[in-house]
Amino acid sequence: MPNHLLEIDDLSTSGIAEVIRLSLVKDPDQVLHNKGAALLFEKPSNRTRNSMEMAIIQLGGHPITIRPDEVGIGARESAEDVARTLSCYHALIGARVFEHSTVEQLASASDSPVVNMLSDKSHPLQALADLLTIWEEFSTFEGCIVSYVGDANNVARSLAIACGLVGIEFRIAHPNGYGFSKADEEMIQGMGMNFSSTLSPAEAVAGAHVVYTDVWASMGQEEEREKRLSDFEGFTVEDRLFELTNEDSIFMHCLPAHPGEEVSRSVLDSGRSRIWEQAENRMHAARGFLLHLFQERNQ
Ligand code: CP
Ligand code: NVA
Repeated sequence: MPNHLLEIDDLSTSGIAEVIRLSLVKDPDQVLHNKGAALLFEKPSNRTRNSMEMAIIQLGGHPITIRPDEVGIGARESAEDVARTLSCYHALIGARVFEHSTVEQLASASDSPVVNMLSDKSHPLQALADLLTIWEEFSTFEGCIVSYVGDANNVARSLAIACGLVGIEFRIAHPNGYGFSKADEEMIQGMGMNFSSTLSPAEAVAGAHVVYTDVWASMGQEEEREKRLSDFEGFTVEDRLFELTNEDSIFMHCLPAHPGEEVSRSVLDSGRSRIWEQAENRMHAARGFLLHLFQERNQ
């Protein structure tokens, strides 16, 4: 049976610990030797495409990246038929999609594991790299506070759930109308984690170990950009916000960033910033995840 990764909680707490351990293995077993991996993209990508391709190659596999015009999920043929076809050739299907339901449809018909490479709801591979980055910085998750300032989007949602799974306190500060849905808040709180939501960035970052942000308008929300620029006024992560954080705090951003909008250039380039460690960790975390997945499947 496939082990899909559609959201980060498709992994257990111990599964995440194992992925982090395997991400640090320098000479991994060639678990994808002679195997193909189809990587479908409905949206642009720099980090996800390149980190996944390299992770697959480092495990002996052969990635094939498929651009939106080549397969046409739901246009040329249904998502289910795309998945049935690709799983005839490939040990893995990765998909970056607009609608989360598309990865669910792919998964429902695929004989191979489907990995969500970003949907409107989730970005689990990013969350794995984020946890790896936090682990490398602090050598523990215990007592750690992650404060996310900005839009409660796909990245924030997966990060919040990831924090819940490993016992990190998660706080979010967002403008009115840009928080998690009631259902998502209930789901996150139902994990029994330390979670809070506020309209005040200063309140959210007080004593935090990690300050995290992402763009105010995600891919697919371009037409809302002007409205969001105005609605998010006062939510830029800048130097004076860091004065309120823990003395060892770091800044994180999944990238791409819009300097001067969600984060100032000085914070992005500061000694506190871990954005390039995070970007590199996309590859190590993807490799660790695939190693975990295929070590189990190949047994
Ligand atoms: N962080 C991230 O997913 O980057 P890309 O959109 O460039 O893949
Ligand atoms: N929230 C952003 C993340 C990009 C990696 C988006 O969905 O566009």
